[in-house]
Amino acid sequence: MMKKILVINGPNLNMLGIREPDIYGKKTYSELVKMINSYCDENGISVDIYQSNHEGDIVDVIQQAYGKYDGIVINPAAYTHTSVAILDALKAVGIRTVEVHISDVSARESFRQISYVGLYAEKTIAGRGFDGYTEAIGYLAK
Ligand code: DQA
Repeated sequence: MMKKILVINGPNLNMLGIREPDIYGKKTYSELVKMINSYCDENGISVDIYQSNHEGDIVDVIQQAYGKYDGIVINPAAYTHTSVAILDALKAVGIRTVEVHISDVSARESFRQISYVGLYAEKTIAGRGFDGYTEAIGYLAK
């Protein structure tokens, strides 16, 4: 059966390409979406891609994913370091999860060294740019 993956991107990731290009690169959010869609097409994976700047909306989308997806790939962006609510939502639905960060958060500010989602995610991929998303999808779909 075709695997169903949900990709969730948190706040400010819609600003990719404009936002701090030295850290996040020059490619835009729509290029990221295109890259994920073509990877999934080529590999026979069904994917839905969602972005929000609002914590509660991300919690809603995770709750709505219950029973519908084989895996979640999430870049919670700044909510990585603050959101117990997103962690609890992932625990509530019990869907396999991989955490992705475009930048190498381990080499950045001290406030980025805590990841709440990382307490649940079975794997974290950071510092591989956009490729981190396709690696995460491939890992969950295999
Ligand atoms: C990020 C890293 C976070 O610390 C930051 O708040 C982001 C993006 C990344 O993809 O590297 O918004 O998740």
